Amino acid sequence: MLVVLVPDAAALDREAARIVAHRVRDKPSITLGLASGSTPLGMYRELIRLHREEGLDLSRVTTFNLDEYLGLAPSHPRSFHRFMREFFFDHVNVPASNIHVPDGTAADLDAYCAEYERRIVEAGGIDLQVLGIGRDGHIGFNEPTSSLASRTRVKTLTAATMEDNRRVFEAGEPVPECAITMGIGTILEARHILLLGAGAAKREAVAKAVEGPVTATVTASALQLHPQVTVLVDRDAAAALRHLEYYERVMHTTATLTPDRVARPTD
Ligand code: GLP
Repeated sequence: MLVVLVPDAAALDREAARIVAHRVRDKPSITLGLASGSTPLGMYRELIRLHREEGLDLSRVTTFNLDEYLGLAPSHPRSFHRFMREFFFDHVNVPASNIHVPDGTAADLDAYCAEYERRIVEAGGIDLQVLGIGRDGHIGFNEPTSSLASRTRVKTLTAATMEDNRRVFEAGEPVPECAITMGIGTILEARHILLLGAGAAKREAVAKAVEGPVTATVTASALQLHPQVTVLVDRDAAAALRHLEYYERVMHTTATLTPDRVARPTD
């Protein structure tokens, strides 16, 4: 793992976008795995700016989102479909036919999830997967005790995750209890992974994911098994890490070796 420390959320947004843009320029037909949630919002904003002001071309990019609430139609204002359109896709030039977000209203869920996996394979696999992290250390909606070999499927959300999700729903509006999510096995097949963590609320989750034991109770810890993971965290989210001084030194020694800050196999 390469742990990249940045001072604050604004720096995280810029650095995350820089890493993604670097990869897109390197491989214009890249397949990106994308995440929703408040953490990557600033990264999307910055990618939109790079597209508008610096000519970042996304016309050959293919995307797969991690997850979607079960039961919410793509047009639902709180769906991840809407989120992605509003905060990213409506402002850049990824062709609509290249965009994939799980359909929370699919009739045959097992068949649909298997089909989602098949489409990822058909697209050549995910080159770079962007992840946020839940307060309990989940990635996607892979809640504690999710199999570390899991594939795209329906998961029941914990009460804590539902509580976190409640803030984007209207008062009195039911918060979905389940979601379709890529599995940990699916995520681990991405060639590179970029995990974003911002704010003090994520410090325990980040510490457990990076320095704790690999365990299904903190599904982000499974990323320790992947050879090319970059963990990009601001100071608040990094505060519970024990080896901060070491990560600082690694950042300096690898800055010239890995200018795009995506970890190399030696990390
Ligand atoms: C949800 C999403 C995750 C996301 C997490 C954290 O659980 N399924 O992909 O990482 O929320 O969200 P936020 O970035 O808003 O803290």
